[in-house]
Amino acid sequence: MSVQKQVRRLTAPDIASRKNGEPVVSLTAYHAHTAGIADKYCDFLLVGDSLGMVMHGFESTVPVPLELMIMHGKAVVRGSERALVVVDMPFGAYEESPAVAFRNAARIMKETDCGAVKLEGGAHMAETISYLVQRGIPVMAHIGLTPQSINTIGGFKTQGRQRDQWAAIEADAKAVAEAGAFSVVLEAMAEPLASRITRSIAIPTIGIGASAACDGQILVMEDMLGLSPRVPKFVKEFGKVGRAIERAIKLYSQDVRTRAFPAPENTYDVKD
Ligand code: KIV
Repeated sequence: MSVQKQVRRLTAPDIASRKNGEPVVSLTAYHAHTAGIADKYCDFLLVGDSLGMVMHGFESTVPVPLELMIMHGKAVVRGSERALVVVDMPFGAYEESPAVAFRNAARIMKETDCGAVKLEGGAHMAETISYLVQRGIPVMAHIGLTPQSINTIGGFKTQGRQRDQWAAIEADAKAVAEAGAFSVVLEAMAEPLASRITRSIAIPTIGIGASAACDGQILVMEDMLGLSPRVPKFVKEFGKVGRAIERAIKLYSQDVRTRAFPAPENTYDVKD
């Protein structure tokens, strides 16, 4: 008889229940093996559309196609077993109408087996969030700096620097929470504003460059590992992985050039 290890994956309601509780730990993940490592420590893994910039060399997240999100989503689900996997809906996949959003979100969930989707936008996306949630799709919202709107915002800028900008962003937070989102990412937001929002809504706020006042935190994994060539100012580097990779590749290239490679014990046996 085979005994299978059963690990229960966290769900969107599990994350929602962490409001005012233990801080939610999360990272982006794009591949199976890094997802497997982060899975031990994270409550949710976000297959963020930042993968377009981090992995595929796009200048923004705007060109990222749905198929790419699905491909990376499948890899992250395969590589993890405990964390909730949230897949970003890319630009153009949900803005047109709630029905279009449902079709694409359902495709993401069926093809990747992820547990939730994320979409960008506040009050103007509330109807869509409600439509998806009522039809069985858990939605994480994303307000503040919304990178898919880079062409209308004009740059990756901190939001809510001026007090007179706060009311609109607070209204966004309230609208997505009331529409049924199970949590909301606050990106690049001044601390007093993130703190006010966190105190005023009933769902967990997940900060990225939005201070420790949030109910949880997310970072782009490559940024916190020290692998990204350029990182936003608020990112603390917890590793120097870029340098470690370069050192290893340099050693490898030296071995090859000096014919010290492969080491004799690592050569394939030849049987005759
Ligand atoms: O795409 C992404 O990585 C994100 C995070 C920055 C929250 O949306």
